[in-house]
Amino acid sequence: MKILIASDHAGFTLKEVIKSYLAGCQDLKINDIQDFGTNSVASMDYPDVVHPLCKALPDNPSEALGILICGTGNGVCMTANKYSHVRAALCWNEEIATLARHHNNANILCLPARFIEKETALKMITVFLNAPFEGGRHENRVRKITR
Ligand code: RB5
Repeated sequence: MKILIASDHAGFTLKEVIKSYLAGCQDLKINDIQDFGTNSVASMDYPDVVHPLCKALPDNPSEALGILICGTGNGVCMTANKYSHVRAALCWNEEIATLARHHNNANILCLPARFIEKETALKMITVFLNAPFEGGRHENRVRKITR
């Protein structure tokens, strides 16, 4: 499983925490972590990192999943969802992160760095990376998202 990750300045510190966590977590079976920036807490525009990440994200969630972080999570989420192959979900607790995979087959987890604890973020990542898409009645609904 490949992980693509990016943040703006508001999410930079949490991004670095998440990268360390992922690098040390053997259970998650991650063989590649690609960091699209930003690389400091200097103010920048989140679309500048979100667009390159989305262009690199494969269609198939079993190949790769994305993690995007900004202050509220909304800016990165709105930008990512401009791509037809992206289903980016703004999540703030474990249950929503799990359901984003189970019901929506989300392929990007968006986190609001200024409104969640670090521990909550790491728990959300663990469930998001492990939870399968349930398919069934959700298959048609997800298919109908794309115009
Ligand atoms: C940065 O101040 C903030 O606007 C940004 O991180 C994000 O919350 C935008 O949606």
